[in-house]
Amino acid sequence: MYKFMISKGSLPEICKSIYDKHDADVIGTSSGTVQTLLLKNPQDIQAVLTGEFSKFNSRGFLLNPNDVLADNLLFMNDVQKWKMVRQKLTPVFTSARLKNMFYIMDRCARDFVDLVDDNPQLKKKPYTLVYTYTTAAIGASVFGIDTKTRSTMDSPYVAMMWKALTPTLKGNLILLTANIFPNLYKLLKLKTLGDYEKPFIGIIKKVLESRKGDTQKRHDFIEICLELKKQGVLKDTTSGYELELSDELLAAQAFFFFAAGADTSGTAMHFALLELASNPKILAKLHKEIDGVFEAGNGDELTYDDLDKMQYLDMIISESMRKYPPIGVLQRICTRDSVLPSGVSVEKDVVCMIPVMAVQRDEKYYPDPEVFDPERFAPENASNIKKYTYLPFGEGNRHCLGARFARVQMKVGLARLLRRFTLTPQKMEPVEFEKSAFGLRAADLFYDLKLRNI
Ligand code: HEM
Repeated sequence: MYKFMISKGSLPEICKSIYDKHDADVIGTSSGTVQTLLLKNPQDIQAVLTGEFSKFNSRGFLLNPNDVLADNLLFMNDVQKWKMVRQKLTPVFTSARLKNMFYIMDRCARDFVDLVDDNPQLKKKPYTLVYTYTTAAIGASVFGIDTKTRSTMDSPYVAMMWKALTPTLKGNLILLTANIFPNLYKLLKLKTLGDYEKPFIGIIKKVLESRKGDTQKRHDFIEICLELKKQGVLKDTTSGYELELSDELLAAQAFFFFAAGADTSGTAMHFALLELASNPKILAKLHKEIDGVFEAGNGDELTYDDLDKMQYLDMIISESMRKYPPIGVLQRICTRDSVLPSGVSVEKDVVCMIPVMAVQRDEKYYPDPEVFDPERFAPENASNIKKYTYLPFGEGNRHCLGARFARVQMKVGLARLLRRFTLTPQKMEPVEFEKSAFGLRAADLFYDLKLRNI
């Protein structure tokens, strides 16, 4: 982490350079004053993410108790609280719920394509376009579709999240302090997301209040929150642990649906489109699949089940997230002394880093790793992928809660975009990633969207 703060590029790239240099199962390093292990062996990765979960249940991001917005599912360190909130939120993302929610995402995807059509200026900033779509789609899925706005792309959350998530000097300094001077971080009661706490919690409280008497079924997150709140204080019958789903707690979850979901899905779509522009044969095959599904259906309509028919699109998204995992490093902290399958002992408070990008570009697991080849994920090949070497959504008890949602959102967005537009062929240049702690981003890269003649 210290090297990350003073060097160019992203943490996943730094981890990859360490990974490639050393032929060992586990590589010892440090992150400021914190001892860190970089794991290479898939069995050790399996143990940390799944098998030995009770000893590695936290990501170990330092938080002060007053950091209300950041103390959420993603960063939550209190395992009992995490378990209960995760249990309550898991049903938000079942296939049945997503099917009900599909109308929201489809409406956003239609508005997204109209936005591309109407804005020649925005077309010059393709990442801004996809990020606007993913943020607005999460906004509409959380708060419902605002019937007063003409387009879901005019969402007020886009600008807010853009500001909240753009790395700043202040944000980097807070991160640096948390990692290198944890005692100072605690003493100063620093907050990672302090600036957004009041406005965001305020919005959630207002929307929850305004929807209390509403009987219309909308299938959005606020509706689920209101159902959960009716259950009163939640109690774990085995441990006796009690938790109240306060507005603050729910606001923190909603905030992190944006934080965890908008940039990651936008980045995955962005890299998929870049690779498609550079691989005309793959693009042509994808156009054929998308056109086939639209033409077999009802004009411009698309259903949730239609997405299942777009298997090649699914393979492209998977391959894109292999080569460019939006989260390129996973992290766990050891909460009880442990011994990994490779025989390495891990003491309490040691951080384990899983270098997702490095593993997913290791030629041992993916021959010619730099080649963009969706066939790796064809049904007949996907079963040969070694377990714990494909981790774009993480694995185990703390794997991505929104993975299904993200796939639906990306598929419907890309399907509608590539029904109306195609991409001018271009050569893929080596990507220079931005400085980012866990993510792999290259927002300035460009592809040219051209209206199709259909
Ligand atoms: C392509 C899009 C996405 C990618 C690549 C992604 C990736 C990830 C990864 C790598 C993790 C950590 C997993 C681990 O540590 O094992 C994670 C956690 C999480 N993600 Fe996602 N994510 C995406 C979209 C979303 C969306 C759309 C949402 C919500 C709407 C979401 C909600 C979460 C939450 C709540 C967690 C924390 C889970 C926990 O600690 O129990 N993600 N995601």
